[in-house]
Order: sequence, then C-alpha cells, then structure tokens
Amino acid sequence: MTHTPTPFPEGFLWGASTAAHQIEGNNTNSDWWAKEHSATEHVEQPSLDACDSYHRWSDDMDLLAGLGFTDYRFSIEWARIEPAEGHFSRAEIAHYRRMVEGAIARGLRPMVTLHHFTVPRWFEERGGWTADGAVALFARYVAATAPVIGTGVRHVCTINEPNMIAVMAGLAKSGNDGFPPAGLPTPDADTTDAVIAAHHAAVREVKAINPEIQAGWTVANQVYQALPGAEDVTAAYRHPREDVFIEAARGDDWIGVQSYTRTMIGQDGPVPAPDDAERTLTQWEYYPAAVGHALRHTAEIAGDIPLVVTENGIATADDTRRIDYYTGALSAVGAAIEDGVNVAGYLAWSALDNYEWGSYRPTFGLISVDPETFARTAKPSAVWLGGLAAGRELPRVAA
Ligand code: NOJ
Repeated sequence: MTHTPTPFPEGFLWGASTAAHQIEGNNTNSDWWAKEHSATEHVEQPSLDACDSYHRWSDDMDLLAGLGFTDYRFSIEWARIEPAEGHFSRAEIAHYRRMVEGAIARGLRPMVTLHHFTVPRWFEERGGWTADGAVALFARYVAATAPVIGTGVRHVCTINEPNMIAVMAGLAKSGNDGFPPAGLPTPDADTTDAVIAAHHAAVREVKAINPEIQAGWTVANQVYQALPGAEDVTAAYRHPREDVFIEAARGDDWIGVQSYTRTMIGQDGPVPAPDDAERTLTQWEYYPAAVGHALRHTAEIAGDIPLVVTENGIATADDTRRIDYYTGALSAVGAAIEDGVNVAGYLAWSALDNYEWGSYRPTFGLISVDPETFARTAKPSAVWLGGLAAGRELPRVAA
C-alpha cells in the first residue's frame, strides 16, 4: 500500500462519530432504556453505564484530537433535554454546550446530531412519531437546543437514519417477527411521512437559530446491487427504504451517507451473501467498497449538495481487518472524489466500542473501553486513521 496525497476540498471533515445513547450511559428517561428493561422486548443486553461518556466526554475528545482528527460527530439527547413534556432542563442544555465548547477548544469541529434513534419516554408513550402533534413537539425541542448549537457549530444533523426509524416501525407493526435473512422489513409509510415532515420542520428551526448552520440528515445506505435481470425489482425495493429519504434532502445544505455493506437483489428480492463470504461481527458481508457505491447513488438522487460520510466502519475483534476495511473504503471515497462526486467529509463509525442497540458484542470502535474502569485505549486503527486525517491523505491499495 502506498499513500498518495489527495486534493481534498477545503475544510474537508475528518473525524469519528458516536451517539448519545450508545456511549453516555444511564439514559434512563429514553424509550430505549425502557425497552431494555421491559419483560416483553427481549433485548440481549441493557446499555447500563455504556462508556460513561456522559461524564468522560472530555477524555474522548482529548483522544480524538490527539490522534489527529479534526471533526467529532456526537448526538445530544432529547430525553435529557426535555425530561417531561414541555419542561426543558437548563442543566442538560449547559452540559451539551460545554461539550460543544470543549470540542472547539481542542480543535475538533463539532457536528451535532439532534436525534439519534432515542426519544423521551413521554414522547413514545403518547404514540411516537405518528401521533398527533409529534412533528411540532420535535420542532419545539429543536428550537430549545439554540443555546447548544447557536454558535460554533457548522454542521447539524436533524435525524439520524430516518429510514431505519421507519423500518423499525414497520417491523413493530407487523408483529415484530425480526429481520428477514437478507434485506430490511417494509418501512411503515406513516412513520416515513412523519419523519420527513419532522426533518423539514427541524431544518426551519435550525435556520431560525442561525442561518449559517449547515443542516442535513443522515441516511442508511444498504448498497442494493441487482443480480442480472433484477434491476427493476431492485429499484422498487430500494425506493421506500432509501431513495424517498434521499429525495427529501434535496435543497438541504448537505446529506450524510452511512454505509457498511451491500445487499444483493434477485428476481424474488434480497439474497443472502454466499456462505463463504467473509462476515463481520454483525454478520454483515465484509464489503469495504460499499461506501463508494453509496456516495455515487446518493449523489444521483440528492442532486448537487455536498455529501458527508457520517458513518462507515466495521464490527470486528481483529483490528487488522478494520485497517484493511478502512483502506478499501477510503480508496473508494478517493475514487469518487476524483470522479467529481462532491464529498465534504469522512467520519468513521465509531470513535468508541459502544452499545450496538442490544449488545456490546459488535465492536465498531477505533478506541476500546474497559467496561469496569472505563479506561480508553486507542487501537492501532485509530492511530493509523488519525495519522491519515492529520496528513490529509488517502490510502491507496497498490495495484
Ligand atoms: C447506524 C447507526 O446510526 C448507529 O447507531 C449504529 O451503531 C451503526 N449504524 C452500526 O450499526
């Protein structure tokens, strides 16, 4: 492998991402905490203390900045900021403002996600996204985050992976039989409409807070690949699960691309990867080229807005596979940039080994976390990727 400098656009974002519920710990007022402790939901493991990043966020930021990253994407928690309907916590708003200022002080540009899968319990109990008034309640929460994001934050993500929110709602409505062997459950159409409306309302609120903030949302991209003759089936399968959410970003300041693997589609729908395919700890096919396809597809649908890779990575216990994955992924990003795709940043998932929605087993982190002492240790992949970020280089796989 050789390193060839690549002409990144001015201000390219080089960073890593996290989400509040997955790293903070004790997010007790959220719907997910309730689900983790419900007798009927069968969540494998509860999140409990997670990485204790609620208290240790400054350690996380020290490490990321020290490794060479220039950007950090983290989310702020609606369940903490609005613990009861209509009651906003000044203390929690001040907490998240300290994080924004802490990032800036360390030379990390904060990208703030306003909603990353979790909602306050009271919001879920009143019916979630499809209940009357849900969009207005989300917009009111967004307006209340003004002291957090009003200055010093350039990129705000309104809602993370809205397509997965709709898919999970679809799964719940259909009786929760679990995911199919390949592909995704059918998204719930009402939830799709609600989260799109919530996004547009949130963009308006963010712009009212500060018109300079670049507002967007981040879409899960499954890289659907048609087997011979299945092009139409693939397009029809992808549209409600992905394209509709990318279309909703037209006119935004940017869009986030989140990809990990691919999904093959045949005449009868999704087909599992072959038995001999390498699989990661999430059982997804090892496919580092995914992000390149995801960027090109998103650019085709979203029109001329900057794309930011807001998540990309691999769950593995073998850090050499992580470096190999990021090498392939970054070379695909570099090739897309060279072909004229407007890529404004690359943020790895994830900064830390964290709570993967039901289990701590899939380790996506560049940094490991001791579950008892919470001590953080940068893995070789973190040092390697941080070095590329600091040098503004892309790795090239030798031909
Ligand atoms: C997407 C989600 O945004 C994040 O929360 C999750 O941990 C990763 N993908 C990996 O599954």
